[in-house]
Amino acid sequence: MSIRIKGTGSALPLKTVTNNELSRFVDTTDEWIIERTGIESRHIATGETVDMLAGEAAWKALLDAGVDADKIDLIIVATCSAEQALPCIACQVQKHIGAVNAVAFDINAACAGFLFAMNTADAYISGGIYNNALIIGAEVLSNIVNWSDRTTCILFGDGAGAVYFEKDDRPLKFIQKSNGFKDDVLFCWQRDSVSVFYRGVQTYKYVTMDGREVFRFATRVVSETINELLSNEGLTADDIDLFILHQANLRIIESISKRLGVDMSKFPTNVERLGNTSSASIPLLVDEVRKEGRLKEGMRIVLSGFGAGLTYSACLMEL
Ligand code: UT7
Repeated sequence: MSIRIKGTGSALPLKTVTNNELSRFVDTTDEWIIERTGIESRHIATGETVDMLAGEAAWKALLDAGVDADKIDLIIVATCSAEQALPCIACQVQKHIGAVNAVAFDINAACAGFLFAMNTADAYISGGIYNNALIIGAEVLSNIVNWSDRTTCILFGDGAGAVYFEKDDRPLKFIQKSNGFKDDVLFCWQRDSVSVFYRGVQTYKYVTMDGREVFRFATRVVSETINELLSNEGLTADDIDLFILHQANLRIIESISKRLGVDMSKFPTNVERLGNTSSASIPLLVDEVRKEGRLKEGMRIVLSGFGAGLTYSACLMEL
């Protein structure tokens, strides 16, 4: 038993911010950002919240699938930038779309979050507990980045992507891994303590990152994990029609394509227009390529993400 894509949807904040706009308040240039990251612009929230974007993407995915909200069994939202601690975003989505019969909860595995959520849904559905799931990656990272740090603020964007899955019997395989010992290369202590007993000093309220280390980690583990996943199934990278990777940096994607020995034409990208939207990047790209008609019956695709934790995952799916 496994799961199959039945509908997809996206939501982006209205405001687009170009590199030139960023260069007005941090010491950077359009040329530097494009050369080092491939990013030209990103959508930034000016009032949109994680639950609003998640709800809009979810609603569009259901519309696309032609499914009524009361038929949904499970809603999982992957996010690391929710404005609210309680209740979880998935419960907010349940309310927004009227999914009265769904069980709803959030997962935080940073930029690998969507795949961790998808793997969780697959386990529930394959285990016979639920028949379908609405999986959403949603972020308003602009709330947690330091807008005076040029090494991070230029990278991220806001948005949400949703995929509605139903029970199926086509092959679906996952590898997911975590390395909590590398928690110091990418982190954010988002909340101030309000405890009257708290005596610690609170720093690092913004996304803090060792960019070079994350770059090295990403290029190595993503290609290794994809190779491991494929060799487990007796496949090679040549057997795959599309690689839908977390959109962090165009250079990371190019390096992975080189390591796998696969032409870049099999790696769709949207990092140029959306920046790094963390857990939203994979479902946003799935929605985009699906609407372009690039996902066809019988294709084999690989999805892969990596992020803070460190966490990383790869998924092999037959359409
Ligand atoms: O979802 C996962 C999240 N994170 C990532 O995927 C990030 C992975 N890492 C990266 O994408 C890259 O490491 C960055 C884009 C963050 C940085 O690119 P880089 O080629 O690794 O640059 P660097 O950190 O080696 O910095 C090179 C120079 C430095 O100046 P010096 O020391 O050579 O004088 C930086 O201070 O570029 C400088 N620099 C900038 N210059 C203009 C750093 N950020 C900027 C900037 N504009 N925005």
